[in-house]
Amino acid sequence: MKKVLALMGSPRRNKNTETLLDYLLEGIDRSNFEVEKIILRNLNINYCTGCEHCGKTSNCVFKDDMSKIYDNFDNCDIIILASPIYFNSITGLAKNVVDRCQRYWSIKYVLGNNYKRNQERKGIFLSVGGATFSHNQFDGAVPVIDYFFKAINANYVGNYFVSNTDEIPVEDRVNIKNELYRIGREIDEHKNFYLHR
Ligand SMILES: Cc1cc2nc3c(=O)[nH]c(=O)nc-3n(C[C@H](O)[C@H](O)[C@H](O)COP(=O)(O)O)c2cc1C
Repeated sequence: MKKVLALMGSPRRNKNTETLLDYLLEGIDRSNFEVEKIILRNLNINYCTGCEHCGKTSNCVFKDDMSKIYDNFDNCDIIILASPIYFNSITGLAKNVVDRCQRYWSIKYVLGNNYKRNQERKGIFLSVGGATFSHNQFDGAVPVIDYFFKAINANYVGNYFVSNTDEIPVEDRVNIKNELYRIGREIDEHKNFYLHR
């Protein structure tokens, strides 16, 4: 059975970000995939302090809830990160997880070890922004996610973005639910997507 790891990075429960994520997860065929959804705000994850412990030992100095996410990164086939845009980037909750992936960077580039990967691992980014479409509000987050997925050896295959969520919430938009359901249904196929609503 393949595994999907879904990280929900909005501090707000059941708002636009989580709605997007749930639409996609609903489409996933549970007879082929085990799905684990993690609500980041429920976890205790320290911010990276740049202590360089991982560059000496390959492990993070902190023994906190990030350990569970490290295990999931190593075992999952598909990772989905869902975060709203805060100040043109992802939320602090999500960025803490990304920064803690310095461990993988250290394993590869400081210690020179091969970080084992599942060859088929894919990365998908879902995001919402309160501003209107014209503000290019996702442009700052994309390079962050690109670097994050590279660190954990995931192929960045998809973006699904929704603007103007402060005016019109996701649940009031037509088509979004169906589009994400279809992306979930076809998640095992070799398709790249970039959709902005
Ligand atoms: C601290 C903060 C910073 C934000 N910065 C931006 C921004 O730079 N661009 C934008 O389009 N929306 C911004 N927003 C609006 C959120 O992206 C928007 O409210 C979104 O729907 C929040 O996601 P949620 O509904 O899942 O909680 C910001 C909101 C907060 C609270």
